[in-house]
Amino acid sequence: MTERKKQRIAIAGGGSTYTAGIVKMLLENYKEFPIESIVLYDNNEKRQETIAKACEIITRDMRPEVKFSYTTDPKIAFTDVDFIMAQLRVGLLPMREKDEKIPLKHGVVGQETCGPGGIAYGLRTIGPLIELIDYMEKYSPNAWLLNYSNPAAIAAEACRRLRPKSRVINICDMPVCLEEIFARVLGMKSRKEFDVRYYGLNHFGWWTSITDKEGNDLMPRLKEYTSKNGYEEYTPQGQHKESSWLVTMRAAKELHEMDPKTLPNTYLKYYLMAPETVEHENPNYTRANEVMDRREKDIFAECQRIIDADSSEGTSIQSSEHSQFIVDLACALAFNTRERFLLIVPNNGSISNFRDDAMVEIPCIVGKDSVEPMSIGEIPDFQKGLMEQQVASEKLAVSAWIDQSYQTLWQSLIMNKTVPSAKIAKEILDDLIEVNKDYWPELK
Ligand code: G6P
Ligand code: MN
Repeated sequence: MTERKKQRIAIAGGGSTYTAGIVKMLLENYKEFPIESIVLYDNNEKRQETIAKACEIITRDMRPEVKFSYTTDPKIAFTDVDFIMAQLRVGLLPMREKDEKIPLKHGVVGQETCGPGGIAYGLRTIGPLIELIDYMEKYSPNAWLLNYSNPAAIAAEACRRLRPKSRVINICDMPVCLEEIFARVLGMKSRKEFDVRYYGLNHFGWWTSITDKEGNDLMPRLKEYTSKNGYEEYTPQGQHKESSWLVTMRAAKELHEMDPKTLPNTYLKYYLMAPETVEHENPNYTRANEVMDRREKDIFAECQRIIDADSSEGTSIQSSEHSQFIVDLACALAFNTRERFLLIVPNNGSISNFRDDAMVEIPCIVGKDSVEPMSIGEIPDFQKGLMEQQVASEKLAVSAWIDQSYQTLWQSLIMNKTVPSAKIAKEILDDLIEVNKDYWPELK
C-alpha cells in the first residue's frame, strides 16, 4: 500500500458536545486515516473555547504530530482543508427545547427532527448550512463537506435545491447505531460483519435485508428478537440507553408489527405512534432538558477538568458511534475503500416507483471522490404512500424558506403526519414564528 496522504480536517460546530469525541476518534484512527491538522470552527467563541482547549490537550497527549487550532474566522478555518465535518446546532439546546415544547403544548409530537419542531429547526439550519458550503467552495474548492447537522432530511433537500453541484454528503448516525444493536443481538463484533439493504427518507426508513458475508439471511433472528423486545437491549450503557431513548427502542416492536417483512427505523414512531408518544412525554421536561442537564453539563465539566489538570489522562470522553462512521466515510472518499454507507442522496431512479427529485436514504458505495447509489427497485404501497406525504412536507419546508412564504410553511405543517389538522398546524406555526424571529427569514 502506498503511503496515505495526511488529511487536513475542519470541524464546524466546534462547540458541540460531540466534538471532543470526534477529535478522539480521529486520533485513534490515525493509522488508517493519517491527519496533518485539525481546526475547530464555531461562531460562538466562548462555547467553543472550553471544548477546543480540552481537544488541544487531548491531541497533544495522543498525537503530538497533529497540528491543532481553533478559530471563529471562516477564512482561517476553511482555507486548505480536505474535509469539513459539520454538526451545526443553530439556536443551541434552548431552541431545541422550544422545538419540542411548542408542538407538545398543542398536543402534537415535540421532537427535534420530526414534525413541526423538525421543520422549525430546518428553517433555522438552511441559511448557516448554505453559508458553510459557500465558505468551503471559496477557500477549499476540492474539499468535501460531511454534513450530519440536523434535521438531516430538510438540510439535504436544501442542499439539493440550492447547491446541487457542491461536494456535500449528508449522513445520519441512527442507522449505524441501530445496526450496532443488530450486531450485538446477533453476537457479532460489529455491523461490518454484515451487509444491509435499506431504503427510506432520513429518520423514515426500513431495512429489507441483512445478510452475513456468505450471503446467509440474518433477518429471521433479528425479526424474532424485535417482535419480543423491539430494539431494547440490556447492555451496554450509552446515549441510546437513557430512559427516553429506551421508550423509543421498545417502540420498534409495534413498528415491526405494522410491516413484519422489514425492520423499522425507530424515528417512524413519531409519525405512526404519535398519540402514544405525546401521552408519554412530560411537556415541561423534554429530551432537550435531559441533554442540557446531563450530556452538556458532563462534557463541559470534563473539558474544564482536562484544562485545569493540563492532562487528558483518565478522561471519560469516549470516541462514540457518533463519529466512527464519519472517519470511515472520509477514508472512503480519500483512499477509495469502496465501503457501503447509508447516505441521503437524490433518488434519481434508485427507487423506481418514487419521485426522482426526492432525497432518499439508501446504500451507496463510496470510493475516491465518488458516491454510487445502489438500485432499490420498486417499493410497496405502504412505504411509498408514507414517504410521499413526508417528502412533500420536507420539500414544502425548504420551498417556504426560499420563497419566504407563510402559506407554504403552513402547508408543510398540514402535510406532516404528526399534525392532526390545519387549524392546529396554524396555531403551532404562529407560536414557532414568534420564538424563531432571530433565525427564520421573514415570512410574507
Ligand atoms: C440520533 C439521531 C441524530 C440525533 C440524535 C439525538 O443519534 O440520528 O440525528 O441528533 O439521535 O440524540 P440526543 O441524545 O441529543 O437526543
Ligand atoms: Mn439522525
